[in-house]
Amino acid sequence: MTAAQPTDGPLVDRYGRVARDLRVSLTDKCNLRCTYCMPAEGLPWLAGPQLLTDAEIVRLVRVAVRDLGVTEVRFTGGEPLIRPGLVGIVTEVAALEPRPRISLTTNGIGLARLAPTLRAAGLDRVNVSLDTLDAGRFTRLTRRDRLADVLAGLAGATAAGLTPVKVNTVLMRGVNDDEAPALLRFALDHGYELRFIEQMPLDAQHGWDRAAMVTAEEILAALRTTFDLRPDSAERGAAPAETWLVDGGPARVGVIASVTRPFCGDCDRTRLTADGQVRACLFATEESDLRGALRAGADDAEIARRWRTAMWGKRAGHGIDDPTFLQPARPMSAIGG
Ligand code: GTP
Ligand code: 5AD
Ligand code: SF4
Repeated sequence: MTAAQPTDGPLVDRYGRVARDLRVSLTDKCNLRCTYCMPAEGLPWLAGPQLLTDAEIVRLVRVAVRDLGVTEVRFTGGEPLIRPGLVGIVTEVAALEPRPRISLTTNGIGLARLAPTLRAAGLDRVNVSLDTLDAGRFTRLTRRDRLADVLAGLAGATAAGLTPVKVNTVLMRGVNDDEAPALLRFALDHGYELRFIEQMPLDAQHGWDRAAMVTAEEILAALRTTFDLRPDSAERGAAPAETWLVDGGPARVGVIASVTRPFCGDCDRTRLTADGQVRACLFATEESDLRGALRAGADDAEIARRWRTAMWGKRAGHGIDDPTFLQPARPMSAIGG
């Protein structure tokens, strides 16, 4: 453990981890209603005045990259493509110095149309969520008949050069766990990098059940019925995904095993919610209110000081396995994953 909180330099915590990767949620709203994420009727959304304005977001990201050592900015949601100011925000973040790498995690709806504009604005790459290739199943799972839009979005992202295009799949027992090999075949055929994600206790309905979760081990066993998987020698760094070379490579498949193989010890992330709260961890139960500070007239140095203090309070890990584990009050859709 490090002894005292630094007053300048990058975002560090008391375990020596440095946050270089900022995830910014641009909205808590979404145009899908995935059953494992939110109820059919949606959620009580943040009210307009609670949301950071485009200018406030850019200002906070500027402090993060200029003063706090952030080198990678990822936009998330809810669904970030439905934020009206998205293209302008990307343009301004791409003009920051030093220029951060810029990525986006999306459900893919509308991406076919927006990809070239986002690319021109400075977006580097995208990750797209896709849990099934079956249209009927997609409609049941997301409660919207939009599979074709997502597939078009993926193709549009590749065409626009938003590469590598990564695909995120949450496997659920009895829902889509029979599709792992087919999804990988699809990803290989299209040049997408697929990652399977263990489901985490972050759903708005608090229905997560560890026993129902499809584990990394089960995912790998299912894939090995069809593919040869070898450990990938590429440096993993702080990436949540552990990767394997498929059938000798160079194609890869990843597994994000937050629950059975946690990677918190290497975590390099800090998060900003759409209403301007810093979260040191996806599972944090504490937040630090940067919106309040901004609107009360804080200068950049004060914002940076508050952000460093929030990071200093980051806990060692998510604690999902602790008997005292409490799911955060905010659901995944309002944190941004
Ligand atoms: P890449 O840089 O492309 O590898 O992005 P990523 O995998 O970090 O981001 P993405 O938004 O695609 O998230 C994929 C999954 O990883 C989602 O389920 C996220 O919630 C999860 N994830 C991302 N960061 C973290 C993290 O710090 N901790 C945990 N437990 N899960 C995370
Ligand atoms: N656990 C793991 N991943 C989740 N996602 C949404 N909810 C969960 C959860 N409870 C995924 C989405 C998307 C990414 C941002 O997070 O499917 O791909
Ligand atoms: Fe980092 Fe928290 Fe994710 Fe662990 S759960 S990797 S500490 S953000």
